Amino acid sequence: MSLVEKAIKKMQQQSQRSGLARPPERVFGTLVNTGMRNISMPDLAEPPVPERIIAIDLTALRAEGLLPPEHQERQIAQQYRQIKRPLIARAQARGADIAQRLIMMASAMPGEGKTFTAINLAFSMAREKDVRVLLVDADTPKPHISKLFGVDGEPGLLDVLRDSGSDVENVILGTDVPNLFVLPAGHRGDNATELLASERMREVLARIVERDPKRIVLFDSPPLLMTTESQVLTQIAGEVVMVVRAGFTPQSAVLDALSHVEKEKSVGLILNQSMDTGTARYYYGYGYGDAATPEADSGQ
Ligand SMILES: Nc1ncnc2c1ncn2[C@@H]1O[C@H](COP(=O)(O)OP(=O)(O)OP(=O)(O)O)[C@@H](O)[C@H]1O
Ligand SMILES: [Mg+2]
Repeated sequence: MSLVEKAIKKMQQQSQRSGLARPPERVFGTLVNTGMRNISMPDLAEPPVPERIIAIDLTALRAEGLLPPEHQERQIAQQYRQIKRPLIARAQARGADIAQRLIMMASAMPGEGKTFTAINLAFSMAREKDVRVLLVDADTPKPHISKLFGVDGEPGLLDVLRDSGSDVENVILGTDVPNLFVLPAGHRGDNATELLASERMREVLARIVERDPKRIVLFDSPPLLMTTESQVLTQIAGEVVMVVRAGFTPQSAVLDALSHVEKEKSVGLILNQSMDTGTARYYYGYGYGDAATPEADSGQ
């Protein structure tokens, strides 16, 4: 039994014993520490064209530790390929709920790798032919993505939520990475949780996914056990990707975090920064066996 399987089994047993929290249903894979769509979708609408395009400084991202060092690029890229495939397959499945295109990066504690995962998954998904990725900085207390992309303090999600007459498309930024778009966090007030929990938030997200059928929205978020903002986000996202820092986060914290996620939600787990340097693996059958087997290396 592999490291990941053992961890999941333990968590499932513990969860059954305590009767408190739910175990993860699926493991996306193991990510080493510095490691389908079949249905064609018609173009229903011309994709929205952002008013502004920002340049992404890959060197700065790498220097900040948010992209793998060059010598590990291939290995990490391969692992993200495996992580993205079931997410894309479910997002694009015939008859899929639009919520399947709202994917939240979550974790119990700070520093587990949500922002790292959001950025690397976004780059990986943006290489797909039929996907346009919108990376949303929903870490409103600590808008890391907005800072990294140099758009901290610019209008964003919170501003659109405050102003019911505004159009979210006006604050979505294009980037010089093809098919990658960014929605900054916007100006923080003291009611961010209420804004994220509002009916307006649901309206804005519905508009985002309906406006472009190829859009997949990735949310970076604050730690689940430390903020109410992220607990609210789990209710809105159709998919929750729980990032767990290997050898660091106690299982009780992971279970506690999972207890904030509704039972019917699709939840997957990434064991991040694992020192197990084997290739990333996928696990099916923890409740969601509908995803396709990852394709062979397609080079994307
Ligand atoms: N797979 C990985 N390999 C190497 N370093 C990583 C990996 N994942 C995360 N890190 C590093 O761990 C640190 C924390 O990662 P990150 O900022 O993504 O965590 P976070 O969950 O977003 O934290 P916070 O909750 O504070 O926003 C970063 O310095 C990042 O470079
Ligand atoms: Mg972060």
